[in-house]
Amino acid sequence: MSTYTEDSRKVTTHRLIEMKQRGEKISMLTAYDYSMASLIDQAGMDVILVGDSASNVMAGNVTTLPITLDQMIYHGKSVMKAVKRALVVVDLPFGTYQGNSKEAVHSAIRVMKETHADCIKIEGGAEIAESVTRILSTGIPIMGHLGLTPQSINKFGTYTVRAKEEAEAQKLISDAHLLEELGCFAIVLEKIPAFLAKQVTEELKIPVIGIGAGPYADGQVLVMHDMLGINKEFSPRFLRRYADLGDEIIDAVKHYIQDVKDCDFPNEKESYF
Ligand code: KIV
Repeated sequence: MSTYTEDSRKVTTHRLIEMKQRGEKISMLTAYDYSMASLIDQAGMDVILVGDSASNVMAGNVTTLPITLDQMIYHGKSVMKAVKRALVVVDLPFGTYQGNSKEAVHSAIRVMKETHADCIKIEGGAEIAESVTRILSTGIPIMGHLGLTPQSINKFGTYTVRAKEEAEAQKLISDAHLLEELGCFAIVLEKIPAFLAKQVTEELKIPVIGIGAGPYADGQVLVMHDMLGINKEFSPRFLRRYADLGDEIIDAVKHYIQDVKDCDFPNEKESYF
């Protein structure tokens, strides 16, 4: 049973581990700009992820692959100006850490120096172990990401549930242990069977945050535009919509258009004479 206590202290990687130890669930949501990050932080979110899903929801790309390090830094900086309490994690984008651990360190250092974020997130297991080790050696905390890793969508070929087969499930379990042993402070598990996420959550000491990974993880993450109903094109089974802001925004904008056309806006009170 999770016990939610409102606490205005800054969330740190250490505090997330304490939350896991006392069974308090961790809340995490994406944000990419100053205004939304400020609202989400005021609401009491534990972790704000400046996700490379910005590539989809902010830039309109089909995948997360096109977003650049400079663009992620721009989003990270905007979010960091707003956030007072939440732990802020910035995704390293595709092509800035895989296959070259020196470049990985360079990318992670740029994110930390230029955005002032608390830590970074990267996708993958054994294949990125060298990059993980080198980044951690500089003192930058890392959140791992396993299961459906959107930067590898061209390898998977589909966004369906990962690790349903035994071999992939075993690799995921061993990758999760490896990331913990290397020193990651948490991992995200995306779109995998709930009982596999439960096993990993129980076996690891570090927090496991799920998205489409069932109820047993130590915390949950969603993409802000999806859960607020701003982006309606994406409606997987795991998504719960907490608002219909898309419809509300369209209604408000229609109302404004009508008021302008009808010469109803601005009125006397809204004008300077
Ligand atoms: O970029 C992102 O929004 C993410 C979440 C889906 C976890 O990585």
